[in-house]
Amino acid sequence: MPLVSTADIVRGAAESGRGAGAFNVIQLEHAEALVAGAEAAGAPVILQISENAVKYHRALEPIGLATLAVARAASVSVAVHLDHATKPELVREAVALGFGSVMYDASVLPYAENVAATREVTEHCHAHGVFVEAELGEVGGKDGVHAPGARTDPDEAVAFVQATGIDALAIAVGTSHAMLEKTAALDLDLIAAHRKAVPVPLVLHGSSGVPDEDLTRAVDAGMTKVNIATSLNQAFTRAVRDFLAANPAVVDTRKYLSPGRDAVAAEVARLLGVLKAG
Ligand code: G3H
Ligand code: ZN
Repeated sequence: MPLVSTADIVRGAAESGRGAGAFNVIQLEHAEALVAGAEAAGAPVILQISENAVKYHRALEPIGLATLAVARAASVSVAVHLDHATKPELVREAVALGFGSVMYDASVLPYAENVAATREVTEHCHAHGVFVEAELGEVGGKDGVHAPGARTDPDEAVAFVQATGIDALAIAVGTSHAMLEKTAALDLDLIAAHRKAVPVPLVLHGSSGVPDEDLTRAVDAGMTKVNIATSLNQAFTRAVRDFLAANPAVVDTRKYLSPGRDAVAAEVARLLGVLKAG
């Protein structure tokens, strides 16, 4: 059961109180590592490609098709997702390529504009059977500035889900993107309040800054899709640095990227356990 829809993974996890690990693909090695980690853990996994990664590659199609191919060859359930898209045309391209889901992120817009833009994107995605995640109450750090103080109001969240028709909601509950230390203080009571009120699965962004035990608590409180990117890059880069420091004469990129890929796979397997994703 290789490539599956994100809806299957996220709704299945939500129904059984498990977390669904969603990890970012930047290079092909990430996709290979994320699947290897999921296979080692015997758990489903979501591979996500952000608009920023698309900018880095200057196109979605090459990395998108490669990621879909890695997913199709997996022995566990794997979904492919477009992360933090701000451009509706990029969403349309992902839908056309066969992605199972998109996150349309209009969270910087005023509420009414966020609703209108998100509803339009959602209608297009649903017409093609694609699952849609959106964000309300901007999770900080996307521009490099940490802003863990943002909070999403549960009543506003319910109204937003109803007005847009989205399938999953990213909420601000104390995290911030791109943290290098696990020092984020999660508002677990707020997660529980959202779980009670909001009729769709909840998504945690900026999860690299959350200590392991709080990731487990977040899932227990009702968080389902958990997005992790930065801490995997830390593992990758640490392994590559160590290898190159010990082997300064090596120039074959395969020799030093292999330990990076192995380190990410091991960390993904460990994190899927923390998230109770299996
Ligand atoms: O959308 C992706 C994430 O929210 C990842 O955040 O890099 O802080 O783990 P992170
Ligand atoms: Zn994010």
